Amino acid sequence: MTTTTQELSTKHILGIKYLQKSDIELILDTSVHFKEVINRPIKKVPSLRDVTIANLFFENSTRTKISFELAEKRLSADVVNFSASGSSVKKGETLLDTVNNILSMKVDMVVMRHPAPGAHHFLAQHIDASIVNAGDGTHEHPTQALLDAFSMREAVGSLKGKKVVIFGDIKHSRVALSNIFCLQKLGAKVRVCGPPTLIPKHLPKLGVEVSYDVKNSLAWCDIANVLRIQLERQDIKYIPSLREYSQYFGINKSFLDSINKDIVIMHPGPINRGVEISSDVADSDQSIILQQVENGVAVRMAILFLLANKRGGKISL
Ligand code: CP
Repeated sequence: MTTTTQELSTKHILGIKYLQKSDIELILDTSVHFKEVINRPIKKVPSLRDVTIANLFFENSTRTKISFELAEKRLSADVVNFSASGSSVKKGETLLDTVNNILSMKVDMVVMRHPAPGAHHFLAQHIDASIVNAGDGTHEHPTQALLDAFSMREAVGSLKGKKVVIFGDIKHSRVALSNIFCLQKLGAKVRVCGPPTLIPKHLPKLGVEVSYDVKNSLAWCDIANVLRIQLERQDIKYIPSLREYSQYFGINKSFLDSINKDIVIMHPGPINRGVEISSDVADSDQSIILQQVENGVAVRMAILFLLANKRGGKISL
């Protein structure tokens, strides 16, 4: 058993914007160890014995919720799960009251998904527990960006100088913003591609290229990260129809065949098959979509381990 000597610069993971490059590299390097752990016959280590973690989900989730719970259990943490539906939130209890009541039961860390951008920053000013942002509205999804970067590194090696295009509904995507910050900190070149109505006008100010040409963007990149059209966040119509979107902006096999180049295909999920990505691309050998999900457990183990280490001194790997 060894202990880690390096520490994160922060006690929370609120967004990639607030992480240093060295934090990101420490998380990715530590994830390599935990990926080896989750592929052992016995996938559990005692690192977070005596640490209690609450998973608070005020918005729907499949991958992130299950992935955090598995990560916590494989680190031997005690876990409590909370969903807003069926809770006293429905009786009018505030976010701070809900969290303070849960923390009074001696909880050390909070993993939270919330529809309000900035909800995690608000909590961080009022509670002592470490907070991990599992998605805040259309703002950031830092652990997704970290698992995406880890998966990209596995697929193509160092990201310095690599070209990544984020395709689709950039406007409503927290994955897009976290990926942009993370990839830029790791030295990648980032472009976004989609219909003009789904690309915020301020994006070039972040140092990101903007394109409306799918074929040109596929030919330019090493990695295509395809995002879901988030109809549930669209209060007005940003595209004429899903059929038209799929025809002009969906990533399909004929687009890929026409560029004659072996690029890596990613998607954070959930997928709208036949809309932003066709099934033959999502399920192809170029796709690493399920590897992203597998890596999510290892990366979240690394994040929780490093946060616990920051809080409580040296913990054994
Ligand atoms: N990628 C992602 O956040 O998926 P879920 O919404 O299912 O957690």
